[in-house]
Amino acid sequence: MKNIRNFCIIAHIDHGKSTLADRLLEFTQSVSEREMQHQLLDNMDLERERGITIKSHAIQMNYIYKGEPFVLNLIDTPGHVDFSYEVSRSIAACEGALLIVDASQGIEAQTISNLYLAIGNDLEIIPVLNKIDLPHAMPEEVSDQIIDLIGCEREDIIHASGKAGIGIEDILNAICERISAPKGDPDAPLQALIFDSVFNSYRGIEVYFRIMNGTLRKGDKVKFIATGKQYEADEIGVLKLNQEPRQVLGAGNVGYLISGIKNAKEVKVGDTITHAANPDTIQIQGFEEVKPMVFAGIYPVETTEYEELRSSMEKLQLNDASLVWEPETSAALGFGFRCGFLGMLHMEIVQERLEREFDMTVITTVPSVQFKAFTTKDGEIKVNAPSEMPEPNYIDHIEEPFIKAQIISKAEYIGPIISLCMDKRAILKAQNFLTSDRVELIFEMPLAEIVFDFFDKLKTISRGYASLDYELIGFRESHMVKLDIMLNGEKVDALSAIVHRDKAYDWGKRLCEKLQELLPRQMFEIAIQAAIGQKIIARETVKALRKNVLAKCYGGDISRKRKLLEKQKKGKKRMRQVGNVEIPQEAFLAVLKLD
Ligand code: GTP
Repeated sequence: MKNIRNFCIIAHIDHGKSTLADRLLEFTQSVSEREMQHQLLDNMDLERERGITIKSHAIQMNYIYKGEPFVLNLIDTPGHVDFSYEVSRSIAACEGALLIVDASQGIEAQTISNLYLAIGNDLEIIPVLNKIDLPHAMPEEVSDQIIDLIGCEREDIIHASGKAGIGIEDILNAICERISAPKGDPDAPLQALIFDSVFNSYRGIEVYFRIMNGTLRKGDKVKFIATGKQYEADEIGVLKLNQEPRQVLGAGNVGYLISGIKNAKEVKVGDTITHAANPDTIQIQGFEEVKPMVFAGIYPVETTEYEELRSSMEKLQLNDASLVWEPETSAALGFGFRCGFLGMLHMEIVQERLEREFDMTVITTVPSVQFKAFTTKDGEIKVNAPSEMPEPNYIDHIEEPFIKAQIISKAEYIGPIISLCMDKRAILKAQNFLTSDRVELIFEMPLAEIVFDFFDKLKTISRGYASLDYELIGFRESHMVKLDIMLNGEKVDALSAIVHRDKAYDWGKRLCEKLQELLPRQMFEIAIQAAIGQKIIARETVKALRKNVLAKCYGGDISRKRKLLEKQKKGKKRMRQVGNVEIPQEAFLAVLKLD
């Protein structure tokens, strides 16, 4: 155990974690050249395409340091603000962290938030100044920032480039030298922390764990403390590029367990594995509770696929513990699920994973945050969807979630950033210069305002320099109203939204305009109206179509007619009928594009 090192890599998005991880794997020959492909750890297609890390992954390397063999377990973590939950789980399984900072960008918001998580878990921090090969790298200046931030010595900072392969050996040596060996008693009762799990249709659920105390052997009878379920450890092993079975794993090790578990609900990330014979073993603590920030409905396009969607969501949830959901019905969309996500990116990813990995075509509805309505009738009600908003005459007041937002940017963009935030109902609480041209702005603002396009806008006005991190600070009273959309007089529940009173008129008007663009013309006129309660606040019209598709075929040709009809049917796949109006999927998300 004294030669095991468990570490993670933390960094702001795009500072080069995955590239550096590839180099570490190459250098330690953990993968052969044939197996090596760019960004090896990002093994979900989606991650490759988007160039971001979504899930944490673990992989083991062997390394000889000063003549002694070491086992290094790397747990990769995502950098985007939406996925900080994954980061906190990886951190709990490690003793040390590489803190990667891009030498051309400097410290950014998630550098700091992830660092605090790591420090809070007592991890040894190894600062790495990455991308020093870039011509516009600023090693001195960024080193100053790192020293200011973590209070290390200048010589503690390793200069590296994942791309050019600089400093890789120094990093591996520092991991062996500076990070402490895992503590824990191999003879104590078994306590293994589940930090991840994934569904494999052939082998059942694979559970990834870190043994804190005790020893696990193949064939042992084990128990998951939170669920109370018992299993046999059919196969245990370590995570290399592929899984490598082992007979025994002792305290300090990171590994996987397969015991034919089929039901996703039985595995909870954060749970503790122990031996069935040890009924008194204490559960490991230290996981942050997941806090969904954004809620939206997910519905199958084909209403008959509801059950299939449910089982797909269960499987996905296993691999994404931050996804929460419950059944919901909508007059417009039928049976579906109300889901809680960590943020907008998370929501997009869930939708895409459902489509790619489970072959489901789904419709997602307008995202919303959670409001609290205080009613004169039933007291406090949690409102996760506009449809759950009580009748206005019962509402005493409404509270909405507020966040503390930390924005770090080049000083020249302070003006535009402050005005963008003001427009989003923010209050500036502090302005600190980290260096002469790097400023930290602290705002308090409603979460609802950053849900939609805030992050994109922030990036645009700061030419990509500003970074954002946020945490929930509680609920505050706000004048929120429910805004309904009607098509030919029929309310479309899936298009309703809860908006601030001062913004309702503008919102309604722009949403009607957007819908007018998005709704396909039909054989009759469509009236689009926005209303608060009984009061109509905006109206647009989609004119009737004169020709139908078949008009192009002059008589005769049946097969061509059929083709056209087929084509039209396909186009309808993502359509929903409300009253007599057909609504395409884009329309349900029109609010996201109100500009
Ligand atoms: P997430 O997984 O999304 O959190 O990003 P990441 O931090 O893993 O960054 P990634 O390794 O994907 O690198 C981001 C970008 O920086 C890519 O375009 C890389 O090619 C580039 N990059 C990474 N390391 C270096 C480096 O040392 N030098 C230079 N010049 N570019 C690098």
